[in-house]
Amino acid sequence: VLLPRIEYLDFAGRWFGQVAYDLASSGSAISSAAELGTTVAQDELAARDRFRSALSRRYGVPEAEIVPCVGGSGAFFALVAAATSRGDHVLVESPGYESLIRVPQGLGLEVRRFERRASDGFSLDPERVLAAIGPETRLVVVTDPHNPSGVVASDRSIAELADYLAQRDVWLCVDEVYLELAAPGTTARKLGDNVITCSSATKCWGLPWPRAGWVFVPERLVADVTRVERHVVGLAPASSFAWGERATLGADALLERAARGLAQKRELVDRFVNDSVGALAWTPPHARSLFGWIHDRRGHCSLSRIERGARQRGVLVSPGEFFDAPGWFRLSWSAELEIVQEGLRRLGQVLELGNGG
Ligand SMILES: Cc1ncc(COP(=O)(O)O)c(C=O)c1O
Repeated sequence: VLLPRIEYLDFAGRWFGQVAYDLASSGSAISSAAELGTTVAQDELAARDRFRSALSRRYGVPEAEIVPCVGGSGAFFALVAAATSRGDHVLVESPGYESLIRVPQGLGLEVRRFERRASDGFSLDPERVLAAIGPETRLVVVTDPHNPSGVVASDRSIAELADYLAQRDVWLCVDEVYLELAAPGTTARKLGDNVITCSSATKCWGLPWPRAGWVFVPERLVADVTRVERHVVGLAPASSFAWGERATLGADALLERAARGLAQKRELVDRFVNDSVGALAWTPPHARSLFGWIHDRRGHCSLSRIERGARQRGVLVSPGEFFDAPGWFRLSWSAELEIVQEGLRRLGQVLELGNGG
């Protein structure tokens, strides 16, 4: 088979929906079609243009630089396929979301890594990126906010990095699927001509089911991005884009809904980490993040222990193994308050934290 496995998504497929205390899913609680307060026709062909125009208004990006795509996943795939050629190398952040590595590998590209260091608070250090690029590097891939840490990079560091990369004719891809919670209505696309971004309605707006995604790219890349849709889905479903338009127009209300109870849940998580008396450590993510990245300094945490916890106590977190960091785990608090509270108590037992759990 040409395409490599994406082990994290296989893990998610195995466990999501199977546990009572899901502290692994990273997206806002799912909004229903009824909550969007409207219906869409399945063959609304004008939906693509209306989605593009709604995105243009929300983000202040020209319509000519926007391509609607099928989900954030489809958007990222399209960006990589459009921005590279055979023989190019792609440089991806580590720790990082597994698909960002497997997609370029599946397209036959060589993937190298650069580190976002815990000791630097997972900041985006342009020097570290530059030290890792080679003559074949054509694309650098980062997430902002960073998945798994939930840390937000400064505009200055992104702009500075983009500027250095532009001098070497390298694209900077910023996956922004989690950005709306941290900085609504913004995009890194405006921070440099060589910055290309992808996002979707999935995570922050709680709308995974419409598969409404998009990329922001310079006009010269639009035809190449569009070609990917022809290969993968032929014509993308108009209904995805119709829902995408409704979501974009209703984004502020969806964000408000997503933020409900978030501060309270965050307090629980802060306490969970702080009360571990040094067993756990993290760089606190931004205030509205739905997840954080935690180091078990005793080395207790592992994929097998986490799966045992899921089987025996019904609590699930995302194992660090899938992000190239055994001994770490990504903890999410997108579930209801009571679920998060009881989930943390059970997680304390699974990790043998001895914190009264
Ligand atoms: C960084 C990142 N990009 C993209 C996606 C996928 O987005 P979508 O569900 O819209 O395809 C995810 C999902 O977890 C993600 O974490």
